[in-house]
Formats: sequence, C-alpha cells, structure tokens
Amino acid sequence: MRHLIDIMDFSTEELQQLVDTANDIITQPAKYSELCRGKKLATLFFEPSTRTRLSFEAAMYELGGNVIGFSEANSSSAAKGESVADTAKTISCYADIIAMRHPKEGAPLVASANATIPVINAGDGGHNHPTQTLADLLTIYREKGRFDHLTIGLCGDLKFGRTVHSLIAAMSRYEGVKFVLISPEELKLPSYVKKEVLKARNIPYTQTTDLEAAMPELDILYMTRVQRERFFNEEDYLRLKDSYILTMDKLANAKRDLAILHPLPRVNEISVAIDADPRACYFKQVLNGKYMRMALILKLLKEAGTI
Ligand code: CP
Repeated sequence: MRHLIDIMDFSTEELQQLVDTANDIITQPAKYSELCRGKKLATLFFEPSTRTRLSFEAAMYELGGNVIGFSEANSSSAAKGESVADTAKTISCYADIIAMRHPKEGAPLVASANATIPVINAGDGGHNHPTQTLADLLTIYREKGRFDHLTIGLCGDLKFGRTVHSLIAAMSRYEGVKFVLISPEELKLPSYVKKEVLKARNIPYTQTTDLEAAMPELDILYMTRVQRERFFNEEDYLRLKDSYILTMDKLANAKRDLAILHPLPRVNEISVAIDADPRACYFKQVLNGKYMRMALILKLLKEAGTI
C-alpha cells in the first residue's frame, strides 16, 4: 500500500508525473470528472485548516467522489481517548483514502501502519507537510519552467514551519539548487534538517537574518508565518511574530522575475499591497494545491487498485 507521509516517499520522477497530471487536469478537467465516482475520501483533521482540508474536499468532488470526515479533534472519538491506530482501522471500514492532519509529529505515520487504505499526511505538528510541497512544486514549475538551478530564499519561522522542512527535502534533489535561510536566531532551521538533508547531500546554503541583503540573488522567496501554536510561551511569540514583513520597498533590489510564495495563512508577513504585483504567486499556489491533490488522490487510488 502506497501512502504519502514524507515528500521523500516519492521519487523525482513520480513528482514530475504528478505535476504533469495536474497540468493535464488544468487543461482538460472533464477527462477527470468521473474517475472517483463512488469512492470516498476521509478528511481527519485534528488541527485547524482552511486550504488543505477544503482543497482535498474540492479535489475529491471534482474527481466525482465523495467526502466524509471531521474538522476538529473534539468532534471525533479522539476526545474520548481513542488512539490514532484505532481511528485509522475504523476509518478503513468506511472510506477508500485518508487525509490526516494532526498536532503530533508522526501521527499520520502511525495511521498508515494501521490503515488498510492509503493515508496522506496533511501536516503533522512542526514536522512535515508534503501536500503543501506538492502545491509549491507545481507553482515553481509553472512559474519557472524547471526545478533545477534555482536560488530559494526561505524566510520567517524555519524552526516550526513544517512546509519549509518538506520543501527543502524536495528541492534538494535537483541540480544547482541553493538555499538562503532567512530567520531570527531563535527560529533557525532545525539542525536535523541541516544534517540529514543539506549537509548529507552537500547542498549549498547560507544563513542570515537580513532579508533585504539576500533579496537580489533570489529566484524564489518563500515567506512563512511565525507558528504561534507551536510556541511554549506567548511572550516569545509576540517578540518574534513581526520579524519579517515584506513590503514593496523591500522588493526594490529583487529580480524582476522573482516568484513570491507563501503557504498561507498570512498573518502580517506580506503587505496586501504586494498581492497586485505579478511576482506574488501565493494565491496561485492555493489553486495549484487543489490540482496536485487531485493528481495525488488518483495516483494513490490507482496504486491501491481501488480505481
Ligand atoms: N497551507 C496550509 O496548510 O493552510 P491551512 O492550514 O489553511 O490548511
């Protein structure tokens, strides 16, 4: 049984196939509109979400399928103490595929070990968010036409920002990719990501606190929110939350074809004035997420022999 728990579960060839399928869905949606007729996606969201849950649901409906699920832990039997393993076994009796978000790192992995249907990690604590990476990859590909030879600036909360960890892992497999890690000292990329991904693969990277100094060399700027829900104390969050606010003046030295990405939700990291700039790609990213989730559901259900 194939699952998507970590973006590294898929080879670069498989990621390219997903991008190709998503691009085909964009141009010929009718070809895909009945492929999941009679199939059910279960969205098990133990943490809040707008984009991930609703794009999964939209994706399944646009494939002709149906959706069941819950959007908060308190409306499930987790509130009565049921384990993730038992939840996964139970949902396997009702649905064909699971998308799970959970505050505990590793919970979707536990679900995948106990389910008899494919499980997709829709975000686990501060660890990984592979389907956001799928949205990011399609956006990069559509904006740049390639994955290689790009300088990618990641800015903000690189410690708790799970989307950053998954994106670094994915992009580190392409030739000529360089990372510029822009964060306050307290929110630097965890050492395990540096050791297991960047150093292990000899990927060039620099660390800085200065967004404007880094700007001229960037092909992609990936802004992130400071993750309030992962902080142990509110004072630290309040001190760090506005560390980086991207405004038009900070783009003065940016490349004309810079692509500005953000996994959203945005709190204060990007001025709304930038939304009208052609370099702002974050709402395209939202839409791309739906198409990639459609491609992913199709891939996993095909490999499970369900469709
Ligand atoms: N990008 C993302 O995961 O957004 P949501 O939390 O709204 O799902």
